[in-house]
Amino acid sequence: MTSYDDVVLGRRSIRGFQKKPVPKALIEEVIALAMRAPSSLNTQPWNFYVVAGEPLDRIRAGNTERNLAGVPESREFRSHGAYAGEHRERQIGIAKQLFAAMGIERHDQQARQDWVLRGFRQFDAPVSIVVTYDRSIHGGDIAPFDCGAVTNALVNAAWSRGLGCVINSQGIMQSPVVRQHAAIPDDQVIMICVAMGFPDETFPAKAVVSQRKAVEEAVVFVGFEDER
Ligand SMILES: Cc1cc2nc3c(=O)[nH]c(=O)nc-3n(C[C@H](O)[C@H](O)[C@H](O)COP(=O)(O)O)c2cc1C
Repeated sequence: MTSYDDVVLGRRSIRGFQKKPVPKALIEEVIALAMRAPSSLNTQPWNFYVVAGEPLDRIRAGNTERNLAGVPESREFRSHGAYAGEHRERQIGIAKQLFAAMGIERHDQQARQDWVLRGFRQFDAPVSIVVTYDRSIHGGDIAPFDCGAVTNALVNAAWSRGLGCVINSQGIMQSPVVRQHAAIPDDQVIMICVAMGFPDETFPAKAVVSQRKAVEEAVVFVGFEDER
């Protein structure tokens, strides 16, 4: 049994996968664990479209084609636009770590573009899990919050079972492509996808350990006698 600390401290996003397929029973086990996530009033608004094989290849091809053609992204929920300030700095920070691990030089436009396209191909993972929520509660922020909870639980559960994942916005930036090839019905809103598979241990980016801001930066204690 893996401990909570082993999973949380050991997990990292995986962006290079073995070709080997992931057994359906293992995916079911992982999703069952993830679905122990809390949700608002236990509404569990989430659903999972687990895509592999030809449909996933068609999604990869559609994403790549649209990206290369410059089709603007179309997600199914509100976006805040580009990151700025400290958020942008952290975004650059993880990109620098990944590019350094992959040996991608700052001015190597081709290599950078290849990396972006890899993301649109969902890092060539054997499985993509598209997390959706019920359209009947679209418009509020609670369903996306609940999807976040279950998605975090999903990547941790997968890690505890020897699987690697990356939560992957790039995979759903062209949501119509995903909707078509994964046959997602109109009563579902596409929230995110998670690329999943057995990690390729030799893939250089696997060594990247992302940084976190200090607890002191994030936490404000209120009403404690020993307030900092
Ligand atoms: C909502 C969300 C979307 C993400 N989208 C992408 C993505 O499109 N491409 C990617 O390479 N990583 C993506 N990630 C992974 C983050 O970059 C990663 O979780 C973060 O850098 C922390 O690294 P770690 O997961 O290894 O701890 C996403 C993560 C989240 C939570």
